[in-house]
Amino acid sequence: MFALPELPGGGFTSDFSDRDSVQLPAPKITNPAKRARQIAGFVPFHTSFSRREGLGPLFSNSSCGGCHLNNFKGPVDIEAKGEFGSSAVLRIGFLGSDGKVRKFREWNGQVPLGDKRFVRDLGIKVSRISVGKVTLSDGKVVNLSKYEVRLNPRRNSLKRKLTPRRGEKLLLSIRVSPPMIGMGLIEAIPEDVILAWADPNDADGDGIRGRVNYVKDIDGVTKVGKFGLKAQHPSLMRQIAFAFFMEMGLENEYFKRSKVEVSETTLREVFDYLKYAGVPKPVFTSRERYSEGYQVFKRLGCESCHKANIQIFGNEEEEFNNELISPFSDFLLHDLGSKMCDPFKDGRAHECEWRTAPLWGLSANVRENGRVSRHYLHDGRARSLEEAILWHEGEASLARRNFIELSREERQLLLDFLNSL
Ligand code: HEC
Ligand code: HEC
Repeated sequence: MFALPELPGGGFTSDFSDRDSVQLPAPKITNPAKRARQIAGFVPFHTSFSRREGLGPLFSNSSCGGCHLNNFKGPVDIEAKGEFGSSAVLRIGFLGSDGKVRKFREWNGQVPLGDKRFVRDLGIKVSRISVGKVTLSDGKVVNLSKYEVRLNPRRNSLKRKLTPRRGEKLLLSIRVSPPMIGMGLIEAIPEDVILAWADPNDADGDGIRGRVNYVKDIDGVTKVGKFGLKAQHPSLMRQIAFAFFMEMGLENEYFKRSKVEVSETTLREVFDYLKYAGVPKPVFTSRERYSEGYQVFKRLGCESCHKANIQIFGNEEEEFNNELISPFSDFLLHDLGSKMCDPFKDGRAHECEWRTAPLWGLSANVRENGRVSRHYLHDGRARSLEEAILWHEGEASLARRNFIELSREERQLLLDFLNSL
């Protein structure tokens, strides 16, 4: 089947290609009540919560939009300042001498980056370490590097807390905020479609497995994980409620210690804001080049994971049915090799497994937040699409090799294609 993905969000594809595309209701949402609810959600998503409203005590940022900047990827303004920006999440734990990872319980396993003074006292230092270079078949050399985070606490109490016990090692990992694109459509993808792609034992011998992260949802039912960098949330509502709790310290119906600080109404508004929003319209000047670029993408085998055609059906809400969408993801976990491991598991996802990153809206992010957010992969280590592709090893080794062997012209076609999504 060859269907050129010109409308990645089907009827949800916006008439716009900028932030309006993901902040306003999708064209297919014509019901006035739904449009009104989507619009109402802008405020709780983008305004800062105060301590009085329940923010904290531990938090990484005071608003959703502070991390999901303009609803796209957040900045990792690490390099500019040589210190940590607070749009990413910094996970923390210890590796025991028994090889087991222990979460830093006191902080819920996450450094509370929202408090500037605290961050200063932690003495977070982030540097780029070079990991090697790759020479493409036409002689172009691409340097690969990634972030290394270190803490140098200035207060004795902090120093004591953070000093690993004997035989232990401090573990830190950066997770950058993904864009908020087509969240309702992702939720609407039938589980069976995803399950049909899973191949945990590589039964077909193509080197690509794809595993499901099964997670218990807020209704107590175990479902296919779809949201989060390791597909650790099965539903949009769970992901949102978790974000309020973990990133902002705002307790709610689904995640709380003592009292509810965020009402059901607010959760619902944020939910509808993300659910009914549109998907950026691809920007290309020549349909022919766009099509040729897509064909290179297919030929390299990128589509084994980055699925360009997903049929949606069987949903209660009519708007979400009969849509052919192109998120460029199978929403499964893939092992991209040992250089991509992070110290922490999420549910059934292993350290080195990641959910295939959706590629829709790739260019919209750069256009809107380019100055601060031109980075790729779970920790933002890749500074260009070429670097991002070259980090793909493990299950994606063949696709990576195919990419290295491309001629300069074909490589440009591929990059132009990705840059127009
Ligand atoms: C401190 C920064 C930060 C804040 C604040 C934050 N997020 Fe996130 N968000 C992230 C990061 C980082 C991830 C990916 C984490 C992971 O999967 O390990 C994420 C993931 C998500 C996802 C999953 C996206 C996908 O592609 O599956 C959604 C939805 C989301 N956040 C919504 C929200 C909402 C709603 C709020 C406000 C209640 C919020 N976030 C607040 C950083 C943040
Ligand atoms: C085996 C499955 C697999 C194959 C094959 C594959 N990818 Fe990926 N891709 C992934 C996963 C998983 C991620 C997420 C990695 C992460 O979060 O660090 C990803 C991430 C990316 C990203 C980063 C997106 C972002 O916003 O950060 C780009 C770009 C990308 N892939 C392009 C490609 C291209 C082009 C090809 C073909 C040459 C390809 N991929 C082949 C699984 C795959």
